[in-house]
Amino acid sequence: MKAIVYDSYGPPEVLKLKEMPKPIPGPREVLIRVKAATVTTGDCNIRGFTYIPPGFGIIPRLMFGFRKPGKQILGTELSGVVVETGASVSLFKPGDEVFGIGSAYLGAYAEYVCRPESSALIHKPVTLSYETAASLSFGGLTALYFLQKAKIKPGESVLVRGASGGVGLITVQLARYFGACVTGICSAEKGSIVRSTGAETVLDYKDPDYQSQLKKYDIIVDTVVGHNSFCDMRKLLNPGGRYCSVAGGPKEMLQMMLTSVAGNKKVIFGSPQERKAELHFLADLVSKGQLQLFIDKSFPLEETAIAHEYFESGVKMGQVVINVS
Ligand SMILES: NC(=O)c1ccc[n+]([C@@H]2O[C@H](COP(=O)([O-])OP(=O)(O)OC[C@H]3O[C@@H](n4cnc5c(N)ncnc54)[C@H](OP(=O)(O)O)[C@@H]3O)[C@@H](O)[C@H]2O)c1
Repeated sequence: MKAIVYDSYGPPEVLKLKEMPKPIPGPREVLIRVKAATVTTGDCNIRGFTYIPPGFGIIPRLMFGFRKPGKQILGTELSGVVVETGASVSLFKPGDEVFGIGSAYLGAYAEYVCRPESSALIHKPVTLSYETAASLSFGGLTALYFLQKAKIKPGESVLVRGASGGVGLITVQLARYFGACVTGICSAEKGSIVRSTGAETVLDYKDPDYQSQLKKYDIIVDTVVGHNSFCDMRKLLNPGGRYCSVAGGPKEMLQMMLTSVAGNKKVIFGSPQERKAELHFLADLVSKGQLQLFIDKSFPLEETAIAHEYFESGVKMGQVVINVS
């Protein structure tokens, strides 16, 4: 099968098209013919540590392989068709259209991939295109995780830093869905897309005066890597406010522990568990038109390196998709 393989960490050029053996599903796995995969900050981190928060040092290498990548084929999110099932699989059968995410398994930048049936993989609603379904999990699960951890309530005010990003665009919409009033911060070029998702106020972080327009918020969701600080942000929180540090590092981890025992403003840090239940919830919202995904650009599998380069250039407005077949 055709696959995008990388043998060393580095810039997008490390991603090369190669012929690889087609995987064989284990007893509890399904073999999926991949239709679409995506580029996410997660994939870029595993390839070149692009968006790793300061202070994380060698932790990514301990997770993904110290000298070289432990898994040769990237690709966390996918959609596709089940073509074979292991002997003990009961949830899926050949011909089922599926989508999901597998940050621990990867492998979606290929014509075929195996995923455990118990992983974050569910049936694709017929109303969702393969591209849309493939793009839902990474940003969707992260946005949902932080808003649920923050125990968001109707009528609360939410500030989203990085509102135009993969996580930010879905966070704005979910916060609106949960009844909050949302302010988004992004570049002026992407203000209209953030406004279209329901943000009442959109501020341009490149405008020297934007900070004077900030108010007080019940929840701040901060997705900006390297510039985030609870110390800077806590003055913008109402009493009882929650600072969701999506792109935080060890400092925010420590702040989460400290604020859990003292103070009435809390830091929330962590990562979502990838589960079927949350994927069903998100897919249902998309099917009902209550959550919108924006596909910016699609690239064929052969051009995955170019897709990563495009993603990292920062001009994207929405999802960057890899059309595999
Ligand atoms: N904790 C977790 O489980 C988890 C999960 C997913 C992602 N993450 C991390 O979260 C971060 C964001 O992920 P993502 O996929 O949303 O990234 P992304 O798609 O690159 O979005 C980042 C956004 O931040 C905006 N931005 C850049 N500088 C800014 C500033 N100074 N002020 C306000 N906005 C600014 C950019 O806006 P413009 O393009 O408009 O300039 C961009 O849209 C990454 O570091 C990623 O590793 C963590």
